[in-house]
Amino acid sequence: DAIKVFAPGTVANVACGFDVIGLAMDAPGDEMILRRTDKPGITISAIHGANLPTDPLQNVAGVAVQALLQKYANPDIGIDIEIFKNIHPGSGIGSSAASSAGAVVGVNHLLGQPFTPKQLVRFAMEGERLASGAAHADNVAPAVMGGFTLVRSYKPLDITSLHTPADLWVSVIHPQIEVKTSDAREILKQKVLMTDAIRQWGNVGALVAGLYQENYDLISRALEDVIVEPVRAILIPAFYALKTKCKDAGALGGGISGSGPSVFMLSKGEENARKVAAMMDTIYAPLGVDYKIYVSKI
Ligand code: HSE
Repeated sequence: DAIKVFAPGTVANVACGFDVIGLAMDAPGDEMILRRTDKPGITISAIHGANLPTDPLQNVAGVAVQALLQKYANPDIGIDIEIFKNIHPGSGIGSSAASSAGAVVGVNHLLGQPFTPKQLVRFAMEGERLASGAAHADNVAPAVMGGFTLVRSYKPLDITSLHTPADLWVSVIHPQIEVKTSDAREILKQKVLMTDAIRQWGNVGALVAGLYQENYDLISRALEDVIVEPVRAILIPAFYALKTKCKDAGALGGGISGSGPSVFMLSKGEENARKVAAMMDTIYAPLGVDYKIYVSKI
């Protein structure tokens, strides 16, 4: 018994929705092969394309599968995980989430689907806890469920899928510098001003409404983060140039992807998304920082 799984890259936060909104991309994504084995326990036989621990207790995929097996009727089964990484660890497009989510989705298939997507999200969150010290769900929820997702509450966990407009695209630039999620969380303030909170929840509500109405202008106005982005922007070279010039090039708006260093921009239609990607390239080419650019439908 074996299954091959595609595990999508994801953009967490989506500007105003820190820790609560996320979206899944068509590309880039990891591939994983999950196999039933005769020997009880979890093994990671190979990781291609990245230098990551193969000890299942030190690997997010192993930890996520372990969380799943602990809730399974027969925890003594054997699972082997083989990972083909295309999403660079530390990129800000959900590398750890892809491994965690892909592993539990694959194992769930091998076992005949005993768990619901929401349960799978909970297991995959254990991988996020290992990766960043915080079991946030805004990458693993879209990685498991696809499209846009919203975490209404963490305690108790309450996750819902959101509507994805038909012609919404995302352009992502991944500067090849390292920003650790744990560091990017540490620098955040623990308190927010009431005036900022009001603006932020106005934007979150408007983003959700915009998605459902397929109202691209409303989505554009809602893509604003007055709480987290002003603190984290210093971690990313040319962040404000990217934001301003990509909007001039036709983007609806965007922000830091997850905790960075990637930056995402949403656009209506592929043509705009490609123009935005070209603008990202123009801005970054002279900087002397290596980078990759992706364009994907959501
Ligand atoms: N919501 C998390 C953060 C995502 O911004 O810290 C990390 O990828």
